[in-house]
Amino acid sequence: MSISYYESNRLFKLDTPGSSYVFTVSKENYLLHLYYGARISDFEIEPSFFRSSYSSFSPDATGGEGNISPDVAMMECSGNGIGDYRLSTVIVRYKDGTTATDLRYLSHRIFPGRPDAGALPHLRLDESNADTLEITMQDPATGVIFLINYTVLRDLDAIARSICVQNRSSDTIYLQKLHSLCCDFPENDFDLIHLYGKWAKERSPQRLPVMQGVQSVASTRGASSHYHNPGICLAKKETGEEHGVCYGFNLLYSGNFSADTEADGYGGIRVTLGIHAKDFCWKLTPGDSLLSPEAIMVFSGKGIGEMSRIFHRVYLNHVIPPYWRERKRPLLLNSWEGCFFDFDEEKILRLAQEGKKLGIELLVMDDGWFGHRNDDTSSLGDWFVNENKLKGGLAQLVRKVREEGLQFGIWFEPEMISPDSDLYRAHPDWCVQIKGREKSLARHQCVIDMTRQEVRDEIFRQMKAVLDSCPISYVKWDFNRNLTEPSSLMLPPDQQGEFFHRFILGTYELQQRLLDEYPQLLLENCSGGGGRFDGGMLYYSPQIWCSDNTDPIERLSIQFGTSLFYPASSMGAHVSANRRTDYDTKAAVALWGTFGYELDPEKLTEEQKATIKDQIAYYHKTYDTIHNGDLYRLTPPWKNGFTCAWNFTAKDQSSALLTVIGIRRREFQTLVVRMRGLDANAIYYCEEIGRSYSGAFLMNAGLNLSDRDLNRDGASLMLYFTKQ
Ligand code: DGJ
Repeated sequence: MSISYYESNRLFKLDTPGSSYVFTVSKENYLLHLYYGARISDFEIEPSFFRSSYSSFSPDATGGEGNISPDVAMMECSGNGIGDYRLSTVIVRYKDGTTATDLRYLSHRIFPGRPDAGALPHLRLDESNADTLEITMQDPATGVIFLINYTVLRDLDAIARSICVQNRSSDTIYLQKLHSLCCDFPENDFDLIHLYGKWAKERSPQRLPVMQGVQSVASTRGASSHYHNPGICLAKKETGEEHGVCYGFNLLYSGNFSADTEADGYGGIRVTLGIHAKDFCWKLTPGDSLLSPEAIMVFSGKGIGEMSRIFHRVYLNHVIPPYWRERKRPLLLNSWEGCFFDFDEEKILRLAQEGKKLGIELLVMDDGWFGHRNDDTSSLGDWFVNENKLKGGLAQLVRKVREEGLQFGIWFEPEMISPDSDLYRAHPDWCVQIKGREKSLARHQCVIDMTRQEVRDEIFRQMKAVLDSCPISYVKWDFNRNLTEPSSLMLPPDQQGEFFHRFILGTYELQQRLLDEYPQLLLENCSGGGGRFDGGMLYYSPQIWCSDNTDPIERLSIQFGTSLFYPASSMGAHVSANRRTDYDTKAAVALWGTFGYELDPEKLTEEQKATIKDQIAYYHKTYDTIHNGDLYRLTPPWKNGFTCAWNFTAKDQSSALLTVIGIRRREFQTLVVRMRGLDANAIYYCEEIGRSYSGAFLMNAGLNLSDRDLNRDGASLMLYFTKQ
């Protein structure tokens, strides 16, 4: 059992293979945090409070004994208005309008497996690989119950956390804030690493000291967004990619979130993570409950790279749809950058025929096939085929594509509605809006009210009609704007604060319904590129389009950043025709992802076609090393400004792929690249070089690549090593 409880000092200890998490119940029934870090043995622990001292201004929770003040104590779940002035985890508003929220220990239970997650995305764990500690806390003044869940993974240094609030009082209450975790550290010697960006520049990492006061990484756009990502890493000052202590916090959620840190006057730091409190207010009538999204905490004592690799395993083994866990994904050609809206049956068929000759396995018809859509001004919500464009209908097209030997995939944007659509004309009230306010358009479109069952039913009915009409193996689910005028016409005034969360729950329900109906469907989420790249979406789709930016050099920082939490096989990455970088370099970068093409093969020269055939052979050869292997980020693109390098090592260390990209001229500087994650005692043969090296040599002495053709903008080199 990975969870121990010591009755004598009311102490809980959660152990993963390499980490321990310890907390205790105080005399006053507060849940006080003691330790989170590298694994320690059981006999070393005692409820000595690291944070006992406090000043005269700090409220005393011990009735004058002066032992504990919520002001400085390390809390497992902070309340509000009872003397802990730092970030609250939960805030409840009561009938009398007050918001003091006090959480005191009542009982606990420990059981194998995981708690029920209802309709929320969650870690797919069971009795064979996880244990759960559920602590029941109660507000003594009101009877409201808070279940604090800790699910401990037995084989990875990860712990999942969530909080469920149950209204056991006799009055209606309102949740003003419900975060998923609170984690206090006694010393603030951390840097904060987070991912920021915008459209076409998603998830660039930024590392800065945790400053005094509150820092917030957040989205209030109705989606996790291009701008920030629902995950942060706290790394000790001295921690680097390959060494040192760090902690990762990542939320399985796609809506509004905040990941907050607060460094206090006593030298400590608190992290809370969960649904953003802005515009959030959830009504609970007596007997109702609300469960927070699940947050994952990862500890690494071996640097940020190891933290990422743990997250990657968590996502691969416990989040993505099990159907795709071990299955090879089809290699796709997407019509978007090759045709945009300008295609007909003949054009799609030619893409399929030419693609087939290159080795493509799945043809994806992107935006523009439905309603009367020829640009982005119409037809969202009218999910039936545009027969003016695809004259023989969809079933005929799909049949012909399949006769060419390819699978077929199609694009939808189910959460959107165009003012110029039959659906809008029939149901103008179905779009998100506030009565009396003008609706803000973005990309000429409105958002459909996903909180409403009848709306979801209709979208599902339309999608089902398409998917039942012919064999479709893949759906790209797009989301091309953020929410404005956030409200549902159907929600009563005191429940409008539920809108954002209900919206994303509606999206989750529809995606799950699709997968229940078509369990073998490959779903790829997308949001104007990577505007909703998060753990919530990965629960439904094993891959997400990473960015609309397919320039291989600009993609480097996007893919480096995305890999902080998310595995290579989740990153939608395509070779496109856009920039005059070598096709070799485009493929070298796209191979760090799902790999696919997004271009018009008819426009390629014979030489380029031959190159692409070779790339596809290389993709098949290296697939397992990349998709099931471990990533080692060697040189980030921002480090020295002239090269960028990474390697994948197969899970069993039997092979490795080293990729080096030249970003700009090196000005005659030596270039030595040292690989990581190999078996030091093994001999690896590199077919491109035509000789063998020991793992120890490759990792320590490294390869001197100074005389390789890497000394220019957009050059690349891939070296594949196999164990002898
Ligand atoms: C945004 C996506 O990121 C693109 O790949 C493409 O599907 C367009 N939407 C289509 O409108």
